[in-house]
Amino acid sequence: AEEVADYRQAIAAELKARDAVLVAHYYTDPILQALAEETGGCVADSLEMARFGSQHPASTIVVAGVRFMGETAKILNPEKRILMPTLEATCSLDLGCPVEEFSAYCDQHPERTVVVYANTSAAVKARADWVVTSSCALEIVESLMDNGEKILWAPDQHLGRYIQRETGADMLLWEGACIVHEEFKARQLHDLKALYPDAAVLVHPESPEAVVALADAVGSTSQLIKAAQTLPNQIFIVATDRGILYKMQQLCPGKSFIEAPTAGQGAACRSCAHCPWMAMNTLERTLQCLRTGSNEIHVDPALIPRAVKPLKRMLDFTQ
Ligand code: 13P
Ligand code: SF4
Repeated sequence: AEEVADYRQAIAAELKARDAVLVAHYYTDPILQALAEETGGCVADSLEMARFGSQHPASTIVVAGVRFMGETAKILNPEKRILMPTLEATCSLDLGCPVEEFSAYCDQHPERTVVVYANTSAAVKARADWVVTSSCALEIVESLMDNGEKILWAPDQHLGRYIQRETGADMLLWEGACIVHEEFKARQLHDLKALYPDAAVLVHPESPEAVVALADAVGSTSQLIKAAQTLPNQIFIVATDRGILYKMQQLCPGKSFIEAPTAGQGAACRSCAHCPWMAMNTLERTLQCLRTGSNEIHVDPALIPRAVKPLKRMLDFTQ
């Protein structure tokens, strides 16, 4: 505990001395989430992280999350220095959507509006008409559909299918998936619901269709936290990364939160209800990147003018 306190102090001091701000995702270690808030940064979903970094005056942004979040910060703020506790923290959605293949797929469907999830590389964003996150994907696709546009969607098939079902939009879906949310199992969730008939089920839309079908609320991490606060239930079953439970418990002290069931158990499952890449963000690495300036995010400057357009569209649409 003493060591943790030392790290917190040291990181807070470095942030101040280096005109830096810490922005953390809800799936990171609760200690980092708390530290981000205590030091004037924020803990947020991926859309809010992007907006916060753009609006904050600090010249360095430390992004505790996964690679695409750091790249998004750099694309939106090329003049700022973006550091990450680790550059190894990728995302299975990003890995599953290599730009060459994706670009060829887009070329085969030139009549379609290309909408990509934020969980993609800068190169994939540069090929897109729109970037969306799970908190705004529904509204954006709805408005494109009202415009008569047909959509090519990548890379998360579950989120894509959910939006297709909700909106009725004409969407071609890339077949990517999140290794964490893919593990949630509908049958076991159904059984757990029977044990807790008064519980509300909160589901991130990267989960499989049968799991989403059992949800009382579906949304981005921030939207699920809001649902925990506003729904009258006292018990919640949560189908997303367990990192989110920290904020839910903090904001709803009287309520109980239960992790939704996954197929594997404990060490047998590398990604059960916790993203292995988010877990790479540690206090030690956060301090290290601030002290040494290592792990700076660089995005090919030739990509930035193209990648920034669909990102700005998203920010403008949602402001
Ligand atoms: P949110 O935008 O809901 O925070 O999700 C990001 C993510 O990576 C979910 O797995
Ligand atoms: Fe990617 Fe899933 Fe990890 Fe989110 S939880 S960063 S979607 S692998």
